[in-house]
Amino acid sequence: MIQIRQAEITDIPEITALFRNTITHINSKDYSEKHISIWASGADDIDVWETRINKLYFILAEIDTTIVGFAYLKNGNYFDGLFVHKDYQRQGIGSKLLRIIESQVMMNDFEVIKSDVSKTALPFFDNKYYEIIKKQKKNFKGVTFENFIVEKSF
Ligand SMILES: CC(C)(COP(=O)(O)OP(=O)(O)OC[C@H]1O[C@@H](n2cnc3c(N)ncnc32)[C@H](O)[C@@H]1OP(=O)(O)O)[C@@H](O)C(=O)NCCC(=O)NCCS
Repeated sequence: MIQIRQAEITDIPEITALFRNTITHINSKDYSEKHISIWASGADDIDVWETRINKLYFILAEIDTTIVGFAYLKNGNYFDGLFVHKDYQRQGIGSKLLRIIESQVMMNDFEVIKSDVSKTALPFFDNKYYEIIKKQKKNFKGVTFENFIVEKSF
């Protein structure tokens, strides 16, 4: 049974381990080794994770006491992050987190949710009726990543 709750600062070690493992094992199908190592190194930016948890709408999915996914929303309607544990892919966890994030956007009185998503996540967002607005190149730690701006209107 999947439980959803707000993230807390003490969850950071498990959140960052999940982040690193999912990027290394799942996103590695779509990005080069160099991209994966730079992206995964974001796990070490503990102050950034603290700010996300303190300032954003940041939720976790748990099965028993294991964190199996997380998602966070910025500025009311910008869906900034969604990661599911590498061993729990395709079990509906991403869908559940997305539904709760979308409800929050509606409660925030927005009619559109926006995100920029990885190549890996594109089929998931396509399945959820998100429209691709454009392909873009985004710089992270001096390396250019290709991803997609997507949005959905309610
Ligand atoms: C994208 C992601 C969050 C999806 O989470 P998930 O829990 O596996 O997704 P769900 O099980 O809820 O999938 C729902 C539907 O989306 C579609 N889908 C999800 N992943 C897919 C994939 N890799 N290929 C094709 N379709 C996919 C399917 O239609 C799926 O339904 P089905 O399994 O019944 O066929 C997850 O794969 C992930 O963590 N990816 C790596 C991190 C990432 O790139 N995050 C985006 C950051 S920008």
